Amino acid sequence: METNGQRDVYILAIESSCDETAAAVVKNGREVLSNIISSQIDLHTLYGGVVPEIASRKHIERINQVIEEALSEADMALNDVDAVAVTYGPGLVGALLVGVAEAKAIAYAAKKPLIGVHHIEGHISANYIENKDLEPPFLCLVVSGGHTHLVKVSDYGYYEILGRTRDDAAGEAFDKVARAIGLGYPGGPKIEKTAKEGNPNAIEFPRAKVADNPYDFSFSGVKSAVLNYINGCHMKNIPIVEADIAAAFQKAVTDVLVEHAMTAAKEFRIDKFAIAGGVASNQTLRSSMAEACEKRGIKFYYPSPIFCTDNAAMIGTAAYYEYLAGKTDGWDLNAVPNLKLGER
Ligand code: KG4
Ligand code: ZN
Repeated sequence: METNGQRDVYILAIESSCDETAAAVVKNGREVLSNIISSQIDLHTLYGGVVPEIASRKHIERINQVIEEALSEADMALNDVDAVAVTYGPGLVGALLVGVAEAKAIAYAAKKPLIGVHHIEGHISANYIENKDLEPPFLCLVVSGGHTHLVKVSDYGYYEILGRTRDDAAGEAFDKVARAIGLGYPGGPKIEKTAKEGNPNAIEFPRAKVADNPYDFSFSGVKSAVLNYINGCHMKNIPIVEADIAAAFQKAVTDVLVEHAMTAAKEFRIDKFAIAGGVASNQTLRSSMAEACEKRGIKFYYPSPIFCTDNAAMIGTAAYYEYLAGKTDGWDLNAVPNLKLGER
């Protein structure tokens, strides 16, 4: 199959680093032909968070069917794809291993190249799917359940981490605060919904600065401040207004994220800014970033919510640029739970 004289490239991608079993077929890096996500959220909700053993077991149960669905929705057979891509880190080791073993087995059987993808590189690459004009260099704020990174994307596959969280990730803070005010798991969407009814200025939660790096983050302080506030209310017999707490907490986190992002944009003089990861689907963060970027003449990019949270389409997109650069992996590819960005 050809477009404009160039051969089309089809990648089957697999993602299983946390609690989503996902597979997708991506054409030429930016066209998603299928994007199947089997979420385990309902199961983990019973325990208030992701239980690694259960996650691995469920991935094993579902992965074959998810891959079959991804191929069938794309109207393709395994033989039609050019490469098999898989997230090999960071993430839960048992969960990652299911995807890596599966990808190796099917790539070997079908004699296709294997491409290991960094999960965060996948999140960043999600921006390419709907923004056909987006090309590096640009800055990206990656905010997920496990990561909070401010990244300079110098080129496809080339990343410079400008700042990162010193303690909790942004999504982790949402999850912990949601638990504290009794909203349950996963916290992000629940805080966002509850915050809609609240006043973000009703309570002033701290906006932490990290002394030696203006781009590093710290969210454990705001989380503790929320817990202290709740305890204080209990002790003084003051009723807790969950909506105000959620709105004020969300604003405190958003303010810090936007401020760091804009400081970096100014310093590096880059006029393209993207966001990625589960927390990037938060509407308050999206609109605050859009407003801040517009004020400074920066073009703002963000993926649809379905491409913000874990999915395999973003892995297929990242893999496409590795494929073009000739970066494939051997059959010794292994899961690396603490894989660093740009280590490849
Ligand atoms: O990217 P992701 O699906 O998984 C990781 O790689 O971690 O991110 C999941 C995180 C969770 O912490 C979840 O609470 C948060 O993203 N999240 C949100 C929203 N949707 C998901 N946080 C704030 N607002 C949201 N709407
Ligand atoms: Zn993720």
